Amino acid sequence: MEIIDEAKNIVLIGLMGSGKSAIGRTIAKKLGRRFIDTDRFIERKFGKTVAEVFDQSGESTFRALEKEIIKKVSQYIGIVIATGGGVIKDLENFKYLKQSGWIIALYASPDTLYKRIAGKRIRPLLLNQEDPVKKLEEISNERKIMYAQADFQVDTENKEINDIADEIIGLLETNRQASGFDAGI
Ligand code: S3P
Repeated sequence: MEIIDEAKNIVLIGLMGSGKSAIGRTIAKKLGRRFIDTDRFIERKFGKTVAEVFDQSGESTFRALEKEIIKKVSQYIGIVIATGGGVIKDLENFKYLKQSGWIIALYASPDTLYKRIAGKRIRPLLLNQEDPVKKLEEISNERKIMYAQADFQVDTENKEINDIADEIIGLLETNRQASGFDAGI
């Protein structure tokens, strides 16, 4: 039997480039759970990329679609969820995700975040920014209060995806044992 509570979702939050998708996919594989990336879910459901939604309809439309999807995936049981970086800007999103399971916040320095995402998928919030690292720092400062509400905080700087996935699984197992699982409470 899986030592981590099977009913609870494992939800990854954090800034763009913090590794939510890669780490989430790895955790899901290791635990034999289903994996959902909410940005990809939005793209499949609405037939547009996140960048196209931002460009054609604006951020508020994207946030409304994101909220709809968060409500939906929060009803799933025992899955791993990688969220978009701004999901926690909406308190209700955070509440739904929290009720569905464990929330894990991933961190890295703005320099590292930028190195990881540069040249990859378009991040609308960084488009046309003269200094994208500074912009990431600003976004980080705006959001850190919300990221800090997560159940677990994990630093991803200078670590491999596989090791971070193991670290998170270890944290959840330790937590489960500490909460009386072993004693049958
Ligand atoms: C956003 C992060 C993106 C995506 C959208 C907005 C944000 O997801 O949801 O561009 O507000 O931080 P990633 O965190 O996967 O890059």
